[in-house]
Amino acid sequence: MLAKKRVLVGISGGIAAYKMPETIRLLKKAGAEVKVVLSPSACDFVSPLSLAVCSGNPVTSELFDVHTGHWVNHVELALWADIMLIAPATAKTLSSMAQAHTDNALLVTWLSSRCPVLVAPAMDHDMWLSPLVQDQVRRLAQHGTQVIPPGHGALASGLIGEGRMQEPSQLLRHLECFFLKPTNLWGKTLLISSGGTREALDPVRFLGNESTGKMGAALADVAKAAGATVWFAQGKNSQEPVLTPDRVFPFQSALDLQQIMESQAPAADYIFMAAAVADYRPKKVESQKIKKQSGGLNQIDLTENPDILKGLAGLPKRGTLVGFALETEHGMQHARQKLDRKMVDFLVLNSMEHEGAGLGHDTNKVSILQPGNEEIHLPLQSKLQTAVQLINTICS
Ligand code: C5P
Repeated sequence: MLAKKRVLVGISGGIAAYKMPETIRLLKKAGAEVKVVLSPSACDFVSPLSLAVCSGNPVTSELFDVHTGHWVNHVELALWADIMLIAPATAKTLSSMAQAHTDNALLVTWLSSRCPVLVAPAMDHDMWLSPLVQDQVRRLAQHGTQVIPPGHGALASGLIGEGRMQEPSQLLRHLECFFLKPTNLWGKTLLISSGGTREALDPVRFLGNESTGKMGAALADVAKAAGATVWFAQGKNSQEPVLTPDRVFPFQSALDLQQIMESQAPAADYIFMAAAVADYRPKKVESQKIKKQSGGLNQIDLTENPDILKGLAGLPKRGTLVGFALETEHGMQHARQKLDRKMVDFLVLNSMEHEGAGLGHDTNKVSILQPGNEEIHLPLQSKLQTAVQLINTICS
């Protein structure tokens, strides 16, 4: 996704600038070309030499060298870029941008750019929440700048709160998602279940499955990057999304998951039931570890789990409901039956017939089924690309 993309990284003067050499390293690893432009105060936080070495290009921090008379063509630099990432974007830089002030190399390069611009604000809690800063950010967003909202956590002041710039891997994920063009999900809430259930036999053993939660995590990342509020029901073995969901609901068993989904679904606009749910659970959970001598594991009596998806379909108030199916034979035929039986709005069929698709892989090949419509067959592609196409089809 980032291969051969020209990324212009603008760095302004905040402590979060320490994250930028690592961000640039990740961008280069992903195949991007990187150039860097700094505000004067950014040089107090991160060395131009480190950035030049990491990016493999000279960095720009001044427009004019008084000793040599060399002038940097900021317009050429701006027009070179496919995308510009300003991170960290301090309160001062955001406010200068909102008013088109161009008193340094970073700002004048930014104002000369024609490419999309993403800003990653970083500042202390109260500064970030100040109505004046929020006004400037809104103004920039109205003019097409994409804002990567800061997270919650430890701040340089010692406070814990909002304003912490996203981590390098998160900045990278935002850029990847940006190039995949997900539909805008501002104001929408997505409830996503991910990973497999575990049905306890005793305090140390369980019946589980091979789900890794990679598809659910990719959906959560794309939704978050597209501006949605994300509620993530996370199985014990599920991969974590890179972008922090707004709320995380850990679950183990199908009954745990049922309780989470039924209580949250009425307030969600879209429900993606990507979790792999056990159809059965042991009838009895032993309170002590089952001993080999007692012959307790010769036979496990099972009882059926509720069909969570079917239950959600019957809720009096709910958003668009999406089920996922994994079939080992007659995939399309079984998926059509499942679509009718579970009364969902969409069913996503995971192919088991293609190398690299389905459980545990980073790639997937799915078909989207909808009552009364032709199936949509998506190609074998990364789970992130699959997630964007699912969201763009289902949430349009
Ligand atoms: O396992 P199956 O192929 O029936 O799963 C299809 C869909 O139904 C999935 O979205 C899964 O999360 C959901 N499901 C459920 N409750 C179950 C079994 C599956 O909600 N007991």
